[in-house]
Amino acid sequence: MNEINDVRKHMRDLLDLIMGLVHAESGFLLVFERTRLAAWVGTHGVPDAEGGSPPDTVISTALEVVRSGKPLIATGREYAEGGPGGTGGSSITVPFLGKGRVAGALHMEGADPDHRFCQDDLVKIEDAIRDVGVDIENLFLYLKMEEQKRLHRMLLSKMISAQEDERKRIAADIHDDTVQSLIGSFYRLEGVELLIEQERLSEAREELSKTRASLQRNISGMRRLMFDLHPSILDDAGLAPAIENYVNRMEDQDGIRGVLHVEGELERLDSTVEVTLYRLAQEVLTNVRKHSEATELVVKVVRRGEMIEISIRDNGVGFDVDEVLEETGHGEHFGLKSLIERAELAGGRVKIESCPGEGTEVTVLVPWRK
Ligand SMILES: Nc1ncnc2c1ncn2[C@@H]1O[C@H](COP(=O)(O)OP(=O)(O)OP(=O)(O)O)[C@@H](O)[C@H]1O
Ligand SMILES: [Mg+2]
Repeated sequence: MNEINDVRKHMRDLLDLIMGLVHAESGFLLVFERTRLAAWVGTHGVPDAEGGSPPDTVISTALEVVRSGKPLIATGREYAEGGPGGTGGSSITVPFLGKGRVAGALHMEGADPDHRFCQDDLVKIEDAIRDVGVDIENLFLYLKMEEQKRLHRMLLSKMISAQEDERKRIAADIHDDTVQSLIGSFYRLEGVELLIEQERLSEAREELSKTRASLQRNISGMRRLMFDLHPSILDDAGLAPAIENYVNRMEDQDGIRGVLHVEGELERLDSTVEVTLYRLAQEVLTNVRKHSEATELVVKVVRRGEMIEISIRDNGVGFDVDEVLEETGHGEHFGLKSLIERAELAGGRVKIESCPGEGTEVTVLVPWRK
């Protein structure tokens, strides 16, 4: 925590320094992850990043500059016209590149509407940012770590509540279906006893046959429930047959035609690895059922040296992966985020390829030997 405050202080000192160089009145350093403002530091009485947010005009100007990769110099009038909330001062906004998908901008404002930043100021700012590239990189890293920690906490609490919800659902299922129906059978058998005593044997036989059918339904229901809890086929026959079983059930229940291809000799794996892989596949297949509107599904299980690869491809509606990953993990949708987390925890990784209208392929790669 201290470290991040150190980095923020460092950034503020940097802003002060650059403001001094170009005679600016105030300044912001903004870091974007794609189009989302991931972090920012402001100077001169601007509240800390946790307490507020930079003015909308500053964010949109910075984003525009990050997108185009070109610096922007505006007079006070232009800047004020550029959007609401401008300070009336002139401004200069300079983009900088970080690692991967992260980029940012430094935004400086002058107090006087007639003041104009010049090419010289731009060179000074670019030089100053170049020198502190490492610090900015550190800021990214710390922010990533903070984001990661926040996500872990949310995933953990989501997993716990999901587990509890699942237990509630199972208890309600058992109560509503199985127990009620068993009570029904119990009374029916009492009735049968009575019928036998009264020697009304054909009626007794009819009641017995109804009771039997009802018990048969109970047994199937309990089997289904047990399968959802933990498919015994996973212990008895292994990963591929268990996935195949699930895919076949999808065909029966959701009308999605599925095939399973197994490539290479797939011997039995460590049971923890089998369960992990099965649950990961289940997460992906649940998404196919819920979201894809697919009619066909191809599942491949391939052994690649020390790794097992499961790829699941549907011919459904697809989605914008970057957009969804950016949005998920904050609210309701945790499936893909937790899929990635769990695969990484098992020493593996996940690849998601999808395009709106073109189906989805999710590949999970996990080592099968510790
Ligand atoms: N196979 C797929 N086809 C189409 N869209 C998909 C597919 N898989 C995921 N998506 C999209 O990605 C979003 C995020 O999926 P994710 O599994 O993270 O959350 P969820 O399924 O909505 O909720 P949760 O898994 O937490 O119950 C989904 O809401 C859906 O819009
Ligand atoms: Mg999901």
